[in-house]
Amino acid sequence: MYHNPTKAKMRTPSQLSSRWIAMLCLVTILCSLFTLGVAVKEHDFKKCHQSGFCKRNRAYADNAIAQGSSWEAPYKIPSELAEFKDGQFHATILKTIDNQGTTVKLPLTVSFLKSGTARVTVDEQRRIEKDIELRNNSPARKERYNEAEKWAIVGGLTVDTDAKVASEGKAGMRIQYGPNFSFEADIKYEPYSIEFKRDGVSQLKLNDRGLMNMEHWRPKIEKPAPEENEAKEGGEGEKKEEEPVEVAPTEDESTWWEETFGGNTDSKPRGPESVALDITFFGYEHVYGIPEHTGPMSLKETRGGEGNHAEPYRLYNSDVFEYILDSPMTLYGAIPLMQAQRKDSTVGVFWLNAAETWIDITKAKESKNPLSLGSGAKTNTHTHWISEAGLMDVFVFLGPTPHDITKNYGELTGTTAMPQEFSIGYHQCRWNYISDDDVKEVDRKMDRYKIPYDVIWLDIEYTDDRKYFTWDYDMFKDPMSMGQHLDVHGRKLVVIIDPHIKNAGSYPVSDELKSKGLAVKNKEGKDFDGWCWPGSSLWVDCFNPAAIEWWKTLFTYDRFKGTMENTWIWNDMNEPSVFNGPEVTMPKDNIHHEGWEHRDVHNLNGLTFHNATFHALVSRKKGEERRPFILTRSFYAGSQRLGAMWTGDNQASWEYLGAATAMVLNQGISGFPFAGADVGGFFGNPEPDLQSRWFQAGAFYPFFRGHAHIDARRREPFMLSEPHRSIVTAALRLRYALLPAWYTAFYQANQDGSPIVRPMYWTHPSQESGFGIDDQFFVGSTGLLVKPVVEKDKVTQDIFIPDDEVYYDYFTYNKVSTSKGKQVTVQAPLETIPILMRGGHIFPRRDIPRRSAQLMRFDDYTLVVVLGKNGKAEGELYVDDGESFDYEKGQYIHRAFKLDGSVLTSTDAEGRDIKSIKEGDWLKRMNDVAVDKIIVVGAPSSWANKKEVQLESEGQKSTVKLEYFKADSSRGAFAVLGRVGAKIGADWSIDLS
Ligand code: GLC
Repeated sequence: MYHNPTKAKMRTPSQLSSRWIAMLCLVTILCSLFTLGVAVKEHDFKKCHQSGFCKRNRAYADNAIAQGSSWEAPYKIPSELAEFKDGQFHATILKTIDNQGTTVKLPLTVSFLKSGTARVTVDEQRRIEKDIELRNNSPARKERYNEAEKWAIVGGLTVDTDAKVASEGKAGMRIQYGPNFSFEADIKYEPYSIEFKRDGVSQLKLNDRGLMNMEHWRPKIEKPAPEENEAKEGGEGEKKEEEPVEVAPTEDESTWWEETFGGNTDSKPRGPESVALDITFFGYEHVYGIPEHTGPMSLKETRGGEGNHAEPYRLYNSDVFEYILDSPMTLYGAIPLMQAQRKDSTVGVFWLNAAETWIDITKAKESKNPLSLGSGAKTNTHTHWISEAGLMDVFVFLGPTPHDITKNYGELTGTTAMPQEFSIGYHQCRWNYISDDDVKEVDRKMDRYKIPYDVIWLDIEYTDDRKYFTWDYDMFKDPMSMGQHLDVHGRKLVVIIDPHIKNAGSYPVSDELKSKGLAVKNKEGKDFDGWCWPGSSLWVDCFNPAAIEWWKTLFTYDRFKGTMENTWIWNDMNEPSVFNGPEVTMPKDNIHHEGWEHRDVHNLNGLTFHNATFHALVSRKKGEERRPFILTRSFYAGSQRLGAMWTGDNQASWEYLGAATAMVLNQGISGFPFAGADVGGFFGNPEPDLQSRWFQAGAFYPFFRGHAHIDARRREPFMLSEPHRSIVTAALRLRYALLPAWYTAFYQANQDGSPIVRPMYWTHPSQESGFGIDDQFFVGSTGLLVKPVVEKDKVTQDIFIPDDEVYYDYFTYNKVSTSKGKQVTVQAPLETIPILMRGGHIFPRRDIPRRSAQLMRFDDYTLVVVLGKNGKAEGELYVDDGESFDYEKGQYIHRAFKLDGSVLTSTDAEGRDIKSIKEGDWLKRMNDVAVDKIIVVGAPSSWANKKEVQLESEGQKSTVKLEYFKADSSRGAFAVLGRVGAKIGADWSIDLS
């Protein structure tokens, strides 16, 4: 958030003396407030036509498309320069730049990776050789930025040397690769394009429409100021005969060099250097991903038309004040991963580029479809990717399932770090808790009202004058005693540390930053000074390894006084937000470590700051090896390895509550699932119903935090009166009861990148009617299907049923009667969260209400078994100590539960012999933790007269009581097995026959 000067200005007319003039003004202001309220934010940020390279590339596309089949794309590969060797195709693309046939060289590498992913990289020979001149004495690097990989990619790059040439000739080469060579890359030379096929069927094509554009380096030809009459005739002045004719008719030179927006001029020392490519997905109507935006998860078209956007989706990490809904405008983070979905098939592309990026999407029914899948036209989705600078670097995933895409993308960029267990509990935040007494009082009140929570947060005002790593000791007299107070109930403190460092004397952090030369530099190579919360500030350049080393020293307990083992960190404003900078961020010609321009690395900036803090927390104290918890606002591909994110400054309104679900789901399918939205809404004051509904929704965000703006009224859950307080408390307790299931879902995300909350297309890729649904989801693999109520006064909810399984209401066990692809209406009065249980699943719970996650660590479990139509069910539990890295040494319990016919078993999910594992302290204590209760929903009537069943575990047999509850007209039958007593970590079986 930043201070919006427009708003302040708008208050002045209300000071007019005459009453009726004042009234009139008020009406005018209210009207303009509404229009400006929407417009102002948009005007602070560029539209495509205000961003030179976007405008040029859109014009390039328009021209190419207008020419239809007569369009000749100027990118060609001479066949003699192409070769395939050891899993890689190498060639040089020649770009023709004038009508005399002059070309520039663009080296191309297509790598076929062991995972089945293909990578297509294009660079520019002249810039590789640094054979260019920079303007304005710029200290910037000359190459195209080629280090995005260094930050985003952590694995999966092993080349598949089995990949082979299927055919080659003058026109191109076909390479077969992937599982059983079922994937194919058909590389065409004139014009250059690559079509990707799976099992002989076209999936997607790079440069399908010939919109590829790699702006090669060219010197600025300074033209003499036009003579007066020349100017009239020739506009920019006519070219002399001998001048090279480099400009194609569609190229608009006016935006090649300096560019000004909102009073800031970008010096662009390297001139135009954009990269653009069109990618067509054949037969795919839905594309998802490319967070962070508001709006539906299934992305809209962007070239206008009813219901469509008129602007491309933009990725340029920004602090967007009061962001608007259903918009392709950029937000705080960027993940350039897009996946496309059609029935039974998913494919994807990952555009590895950290510069400002725009993506146009259009969809077209095309009868002449390469799929030729029977009758009727199929829809192709055309995408056009446009980045300001850097390499062209595209990863292509051929699926065929959504799970394959998440897995392959996870191999490249890493998966969600195993979280601190407390961090998946509830976080209580506001801007600001004003003193240590305030914090203790909130803590006591949460206890008094029996409301569970794990973490309380301090926003920027805890510091002395917004100097991070200091305390305002007038208000926070004894931070350590505050930390210790929280620790009594296993609770934690999160404090904010932003990347801007107050540029003030006698502030050691700023003195060191300057003297060590670790701040981001301006275009002249001097420390860049800008405006943020503390006023005049410097920015630590976390691209610099030395800056990371220095950053680490600031977090040690000795140095950051007042912090202790239960203090964790919030990284905000790391886009970076610069209040007086262009589009509220840094000038693009600022210089980072090793001379890269800010333009090259902008979208990575947030990740590098998050990363530095991650390393700082791991090394806070020698020998103290605990998983860091750090929340970030800005992110890029790979940030999932470092912590959680939230969707920034939303508003306390029903619309923003509704919008949050799709945003959280989109994060999940884009590899960064530890995501949530400010519960209650950041700006404004939620009415009690809204707050209650938001807690119910938030209880199903992977990251669950209540937060509020400094001007918002206090709204801790205990401030509510009844019935709202009880409703919110119930939602929180439900979250806590299900923590074992959430933790298991996090484990799955950690293993293979799976989303934690999963949209319908992801779980049911055959069910087309679910592809557009983004307001309901499954929690991990629990079979819990949730659709929070996000509308005022709504007391029923329509839930889409994606398959033919049996579904029960979570609370009543009422059986849902509907069929695949249909909606079912459930009752959802204010106190009820619409949750269904899908047949065929078993999920774990802990039913004893406690104050915090830590206090539940050694509680017994309840297992809920929901019988499928075939009488079977299975599920999983993963648990470890929830804070150390000992799980890497086998210190965890991972159970597979199975009810197959009449025997319910628990076995090690990985087939390990648990007895062979040397038990550390945590595993030892888990010997006392048992399965207490088992609830079987949909229990067959043959159990009706059963009173007890046999449990067998560790060579011992015992009897377990069973209570059977018959079905009635709406409720399904269920059975409860009480006091089971089998160790959670041991093998056991229960004979239910
Ligand atoms: C930003 C954050 C918000 C925070 C505020 C003050 O607006 O998005 O969550 O409370 O800054 O630090």
